[in-house]
Amino acid sequence: MLAVYALVSVGVAYLVKQLTYRWLHSIRRDGKPLRTPPGTLPFFGNGLKFLLLDRQSLFDWFSKVHNDVFGFETYAISVPTLPPGVVISNPEVLDLVMKKEGKEGFGKGPFFEERSWHLFGHGIINASGQLWKTQRKAGNKFFAGSHLQVLVDEVFPKYWEKAHQELEEAAETGAIVDMEELYLEFTTRVMGRVAFGMDLSNSHPFSAAFDYASDRTALRFQNPLWKLNYYLFGHRFRAAVSMVKSFGNEIVRLAVCRRESLLKSQGAELPSPLEGGGDLVDMLLDAVPEPHVVADSAINFLSAGRDTTANSMTWMLHLLLERPGSMSYVTDELPSAGVHTYSSLSTTLTPKSHAVFLETLRLYPPVPFELKQTLNPSGVVLPDGTVLPPESIVVWCPYAYGRSKNIWGDDAYEFKPERWIEDIEGGTRLKVKSSSEYPVFNGGARSCLGRRMAELMGVWVMAESLKSWEFEEAEKVGRRRSRNSLTMPMEGGLKVKVRKRTAAGSHFGA
Ligand code: HEM
Repeated sequence: MLAVYALVSVGVAYLVKQLTYRWLHSIRRDGKPLRTPPGTLPFFGNGLKFLLLDRQSLFDWFSKVHNDVFGFETYAISVPTLPPGVVISNPEVLDLVMKKEGKEGFGKGPFFEERSWHLFGHGIINASGQLWKTQRKAGNKFFAGSHLQVLVDEVFPKYWEKAHQELEEAAETGAIVDMEELYLEFTTRVMGRVAFGMDLSNSHPFSAAFDYASDRTALRFQNPLWKLNYYLFGHRFRAAVSMVKSFGNEIVRLAVCRRESLLKSQGAELPSPLEGGGDLVDMLLDAVPEPHVVADSAINFLSAGRDTTANSMTWMLHLLLERPGSMSYVTDELPSAGVHTYSSLSTTLTPKSHAVFLETLRLYPPVPFELKQTLNPSGVVLPDGTVLPPESIVVWCPYAYGRSKNIWGDDAYEFKPERWIEDIEGGTRLKVKSSSEYPVFNGGARSCLGRRMAELMGVWVMAESLKSWEFEEAEKVGRRRSRNSLTMPMEGGLKVKVRKRTAAGSHFGA
């Protein structure tokens, strides 16, 4: 009885504290509270929507509310246990949020850091201040042009061999292939090489543990009761995180041993990463003294690059298959023989293939939901006059930005790669969109470090996939959806029939 009494008292005290905080820190514009979306409940606010809707339905709701109700107007959302928050959809406002990174403006803040700490730890996705700067600098160095060239010309072809073989066999035997799995295996291998310098397969137990921990981390952003869930039912999550961490620590331990023996045998000079079989772990070890931070960082890089790129390849193939005319739009541009190289895949030589990639990400951004927190102790005023008190949450939904009729026009929901191409004297070129209109790769100081690598990977894989084979979806399942995850994987995967491409024309009637 006493325990129940104590629990109820703590609950009531917490509630009073939250309500007082909200009352003192309410968000206003022109002196008035902001409008709230339809369906906002007294006290619960939008909490039930966040708790009950799956992620894709939530993103569709953000898109609908933007297009049908608020347009570019910043509106309030509220969840009883969280600091006050706004949803922004005006590119001008997002531009400020992206540019004002740091103590004077916005950062990941305790809201994000608390939820992603177990998985991302000290890594670049979660870090701030000097720790973030050091990792960012090492990453910037790693993704310089010469390294990207090695990746495209040597690493991609090596790891594509397995996929090539599987597609070759499927074309002969008529076996159905899940392209999502095939692409994920490819990106896991490439990212395993990039981040850890090792051959990592998707069938490795690390991958399953990592996937589980990522999915549970994503749900924490929707579930106001995540902490309770973690303490009461978190044993599987804890086991998964522990597996991920031990794997990272072991990789770093091996890298340290490898470096020490190289130093002994070759004197003072270590080979440059990638050139001498090195990788990001090597580059990070040059910059960060603590091995456990390097381990977290390498896992963050793997996380940033593995699923995002596999998602984009899967949705790209699906969208091309849904709109058969767009298939020749890219195949006409790509050389039909030979392996594609870093220089043959420049945006100048293959603008249409890049347009297909960017258009896919507009509709299915692998990072579909973003948030920051106001770090400035005096709060921040947005360009539209919204006054944000300290610790407010600012949310934006790249999925809804991609479907914004205000930004893309009435055909915003249609897959139209042509919208990315503009005519210039003597040819065509790829249009450039600002990161505040197209926030797929974020913008400002924390923009995606792997953007060019992701573009090259997507276009290279599309070129290799379409050069030799034709695909047909094995099952017609209506509108495809994403399943719950930190990124945007396709629910049910992408099962296809495969045929060898011939000069005579398509077997599938496309
Ligand atoms: C289509 C593929 C990709 C998309 C759409 C994408 C998108 C993004 C987005 C939206 C962010 C900001 C996340 C946040 O701070 O909340 C980000 C950050 C990052 N991305 Fe990517 N990414 C992709 C591929 C890659 C690849 C291949 C790498 C290579 C390792 C990579 C490395 C990173 C890193 C290191 C960060 C953290 C940057 C920082 O906080 O300073 N990304 N990415």
